[in-house]
Amino acid sequence: MDTEIIKINKDDIDEKLMEHAGELIAKGELVAFPTETVYGLGGDALDPEASRKIYAAKGRPSDNPLIVHISEFSDLKRIAKTIPPEAKKLSDAFWPGPLTMILEKSEAVPDATTGGMGTVAIRMPNHPVALDLIRKSGCLIAAPSANTSGRPSPTEASHVAEDLSGKIAMIVDGGPVGIGIESTIIDLTESVPMVLRPGYITPDMLSDVLGVEVVIDPGIIAADDTRKPKAPGMKYKHYAPKADMVIVDGPKEKVLQKINSLVIDNRQEGKKVAVIATEETKESYDADVVLSMGSRRDEDSIAQHLYKILRECDDLDVEKIFSESFSTPRIGQAIMNRMLKAAGHHVINLD
Ligand code: TXA
Ligand code: MG
Repeated sequence: MDTEIIKINKDDIDEKLMEHAGELIAKGELVAFPTETVYGLGGDALDPEASRKIYAAKGRPSDNPLIVHISEFSDLKRIAKTIPPEAKKLSDAFWPGPLTMILEKSEAVPDATTGGMGTVAIRMPNHPVALDLIRKSGCLIAAPSANTSGRPSPTEASHVAEDLSGKIAMIVDGGPVGIGIESTIIDLTESVPMVLRPGYITPDMLSDVLGVEVVIDPGIIAADDTRKPKAPGMKYKHYAPKADMVIVDGPKEKVLQKINSLVIDNRQEGKKVAVIATEETKESYDADVVLSMGSRRDEDSIAQHLYKILRECDDLDVEKIFSESFSTPRIGQAIMNRMLKAAGHHVINLD
């Protein structure tokens, strides 16, 4: 299949091109599109055949449910069995935005979209191109991240093309995304609201709006597999670069020294080594490749660069990656959740 790529300026949307994109979705085809978090691979959420195509294009296990993207709060009534008051509060505070809510599903949502689960994940993205595509298609759009399963999520249209060219009808190129890591997922189907995947919206922000403490799924914190995460997707080895990655955590000077000595050891073994550093430290490393995640003073830029840098490591065929740690104040938990998975929880702690 030829994959059509169209460029859309999010501040001046080309209506004709977007109508064409919407028609493809309505016809059951797949269209990748930008959201504020990462690029999504969209298909008609209520058409089981479209969902099956999504799993096939990504090579994704079919027990891993998809997020349904909506453009109006009233769309919720079509796909959720009941709308708890927490969902209204959270949507007033954070939608459109990087928050996904898990609710009991209605009959309208096919099992193919929810991986057979009785619940459905729902999000209203905060991106003019994504909202326009949903409206123009006349559908609700099921969209996982638009990467091949197991690769880092795409933050630019070129990443989508790398993984999915020839497998989907269209890629809408709306430029690089703003946030760079996937939405926060909150489960509202249990007695206490629980974060199943950390993201830009933090547990504190959610607790403030709900007036109750929001817990974090213990299954995503465990480094081993003693507890299973509740979101099926969190159990897979996601976000992983091809190279073996190690995170070095501790005081700045000690981290610099340790990483530089690890680089020397590995180069002596003939390995191509990359270091993931920051604007503040990048000059202090001597490796084959030194990549900067941005400034430590700007944690948003660190989230924005993460997946692009992991993809760069793949492109450069490095065999070993040593990375600084990024437990930054607000979204550090979300960033480290992705980093730890990329590193298979391999961390050297220096105190
Ligand atoms: O930011 C995002 O959420 C992006 C953009 C495109 O919106 N989408 C995204 O989708 O990250 P995906 O499919 O890559 O991740 C969805 C996650 C998976 O871990 C999946 O297991 C979980 O959401 N999930 C979906 N439905 C669920 C459900 N009913 N119960 C528990 N977890 C669910
Ligand atoms: Mg994904």
